[in-house]
Amino acid sequence: MMGVCHNFWTQRPPPDAHDAQPLISKQCSTDDGQKGADKTQLKKRRWCRNSCLCLFLFLVVMMIVVILEVDLKERISPSTTKPAANMSVAILAAPPPYVSRGPYHVQYPHEYSFILDEPEKCREQNPFLVLMVPVAPYNREAREAVRRTWGSERQVLGREVRLFFLLGLPSGEETEQLQEKVLQESKEHQDLLQSDFIDSYKNLTIKTMVMMEWLSSRCPNASYAMKIDSDMFLNVNTLVNMLLHAPTQNYQTGLVAQWAAVLRDHNSKWYLPKEVFPEPVYPPYALGLGYVFTLDLPRKLVEASRHVKAVYIEDVYLGLCMRHLGIRPTDPPSGNLFQVFPVAYDRCTYSRLIATTTHSITHQVNAWTDLHKPGPPC
Ligand SMILES: *[C@@H]1O[C@H](CO)[C@@H](O)[C@H](O)[C@H]1NC(C)=O
Ligand SMILES: *[C@@H]1O[C@H](CO)[C@@H](O)[C@H](O)[C@H]1NC(C)=O
Ligand SMILES: *[C@@H]1O[C@H](CO)[C@@H](O)[C@H](O)[C@H]1NC(C)=O
Repeated sequence: MMGVCHNFWTQRPPPDAHDAQPLISKQCSTDDGQKGADKTQLKKRRWCRNSCLCLFLFLVVMMIVVILEVDLKERISPSTTKPAANMSVAILAAPPPYVSRGPYHVQYPHEYSFILDEPEKCREQNPFLVLMVPVAPYNREAREAVRRTWGSERQVLGREVRLFFLLGLPSGEETEQLQEKVLQESKEHQDLLQSDFIDSYKNLTIKTMVMMEWLSSRCPNASYAMKIDSDMFLNVNTLVNMLLHAPTQNYQTGLVAQWAAVLRDHNSKWYLPKEVFPEPVYPPYALGLGYVFTLDLPRKLVEASRHVKAVYIEDVYLGLCMRHLGIRPTDPPSGNLFQVFPVAYDRCTYSRLIATTTHSITHQVNAWTDLHKPGPPC
């Protein structure tokens, strides 16, 4: 063990070896400095140095592991929808009626109702696939980008596809003006669903569950739904193609996180205290940036939510409800279909994947536009 450690050390000193060296030799020499160089002393000193080095190395490795884990978790965001920069300020200032539940739970189940609804659209148009896009009320730019790109695809491989945006209530200053604009936009496009909870990052679980309620009551005959964030690139063709061969019940797929550690660092965006969730890892859950499911699930998930206390991390919460139902999220049929890190645009690559995060709206729009030019992609 120590030999290995020592070899490793001599072959590859870490970059900060110089800082560490004086500290180590100082500690070693306090033990055995005085009587000079007889053999046992030498051995002792070597042993001391080796164990110090090993301890130091161990600490460095642990630090790297911790940093990587935090970084990865930050990037594999449970959901990439960002809250409005100043929305949260307004919410903190308002009296919070949910406070008795603590900040890590959300007000769900609860009787929310739809201010903007499209009650017959899904039933009448009978789509195969429904795309559900959560987006903040103010973010019209993102909605326009989606409408111009993957959201415009209505018939794919002979199947009907429909798109809806999911909004909560605007809050903060200029709420009324913003709501006025939302109503106007809804008249123009008839694709907005708005429910009466305050739209904020911490309320995304409410948005997801309200989406499940809507799907189960408004889309009785659709086969699949996908929840996808507005800043994602989506290849509807690959998605429909995968779904034509997918299970038709109790099915959810996407990027399935396994053994994801519960973050106990207060500063993490996804901090959850032990009192709220005592287990050290989450059950498998599909990352919130884009997941697909069969339309028998919404009703079952809404039912499960009555037995599972709602935490604010929406994709984790669906994972908890899935576990309650005894249904496991499924990995996609091939490993590259869903991408959590933005994939550099390449026509051939993009023609094969289903969804990827993007660097910007422009990246998303350009990728979609180029991919839909005539001619073989590869
Ligand atoms: C929110 O931010 C925008 C732009 O940064 C600013 O114009 C507006 O006054 C802010 N509203 C509040 C409630 O702080
Ligand atoms: C979540 O929505 C509820 C219902 O509108 C509201 O009372 C609460 O303040 C919101 N919480 C946050 C953190 O926005
Ligand atoms: C449900 O969908 C199937 C296949 O898309 C269709 O044949 C059937 O007529 C639909 N039923 C209703 C009630 O719309």
